[in-house]
Amino acid sequence: MSNTSIKGITNIGQWVTWNPEKQAMEVGNGGTWLMENGLFSEYTPKSFMDHEFLNAHGQLMTPGLIDSHTHPAFATTRELEFEMRSQGKTYQEIAEAGGGIRNSVRKLREISEFELVDLIETRLNLMLKHGTTTAECKSGYGLSTEAELKSLRAIRTASQRTPLQTFSTLLGAHEVPDEYRDDRNTYIDIIVNDMIPAVSGQKLAAYCDVFCEEGVYTTQETEKILLAAREHGMQLKFHADEFVSSGGAELAARMGALSADHLMAISATGITALAESDTVATLLPGTTFFLGSNTWAPARKLLDAGVTVALATDFNPGSNMSLSMPFILTLAVIYLHMTPLEALQAATSGAAKSMGIEKNTGSISPGFKADAVVWQVDNYRQLPYFYGSNQVHQIVVGAEPIL
Ligand code: NIG
Ligand code: FE
Repeated sequence: MSNTSIKGITNIGQWVTWNPEKQAMEVGNGGTWLMENGLFSEYTPKSFMDHEFLNAHGQLMTPGLIDSHTHPAFATTRELEFEMRSQGKTYQEIAEAGGGIRNSVRKLREISEFELVDLIETRLNLMLKHGTTTAECKSGYGLSTEAELKSLRAIRTASQRTPLQTFSTLLGAHEVPDEYRDDRNTYIDIIVNDMIPAVSGQKLAAYCDVFCEEGVYTTQETEKILLAAREHGMQLKFHADEFVSSGGAELAARMGALSADHLMAISATGITALAESDTVATLLPGTTFFLGSNTWAPARKLLDAGVTVALATDFNPGSNMSLSMPFILTLAVIYLHMTPLEALQAATSGAAKSMGIEKNTGSISPGFKADAVVWQVDNYRQLPYFYGSNQVHQIVVGAEPIL
């Protein structure tokens, strides 16, 4: 390890984590979490004065938050569309008029890879400052093999420049690009025969995503694309049942996807299908909020059915221009009726499961990556409660303090 590593976090007030052995959340008080080789090693009730430990000064310690659904590879923001929505236009109306994702696609194709790297790097650093230590990052504003490869390379380069750990997702099926509006099958063939093999060959993405939604990609088209991705070694996590229930959750369960994301419009059979599978329900209440909608994903029904829930920001320039995970926790408590503890679980171990990294990330436990946040509050209930200002006191990634 580098010489900036610490031996642990000491003088902790409250610490909260998923306990993988007990398969439950655990709340502890006081003491020190020791670290070795970038991992948590053990807990001791003792505290240390040694300067090689990070002193939490009696404040709250949680695992580093995991943002399991973000779209940071965009060229320009879309505040004009935000204003149009405030005056009554809907997200779908703006998209049909050529705005929305296709607006971002035109802009992304114009900028260089170097410019894109800088933009993404700034965004990743902002995520870190708000307590996110691991993020899933999607492409999806390129919509050609070349521009999707450019986006994924830019994510990789930006990620190498920050301590934040990222995992990339190919989202070539985010929309149908302008040049294939009347010939969508040709574009789908390009994704299947060209884009997926190229991305997989260059090991640029761990996951493949599709915007499976009425007016975007049908469940049949989604299945075709995801089957190709799976054959090329990618894991599946995709946008499902966001505005209309089209059997997206059922498809995710049937295909063994890691997660089905959004689910504002999930059906009762979709909930049952997820409950009978290992697929995680990734809920994105920031999007409901930012679109000014009052259709919230049925988190209580999912939790009560035994589905593992993850929470994420969906950070993107159209439907949620926020990368603050603590704000998502607040929305989850108020509008999804999750308890603060359920919300914290969803933003750490639930999110880790949705990315297939739950064996070593998202928990303060021996052998797990030593990613943690010390917050300027005394207990976990204050985290979603005291919202709107940044409560991060210190971030630790792989046993290194980074702020
Ligand atoms: O997750 N739902 C699809 N894609 C994004 C929105 C992207 C955009 O508007 O730029 C989302 O909400
Ligand atoms: Fe999204």
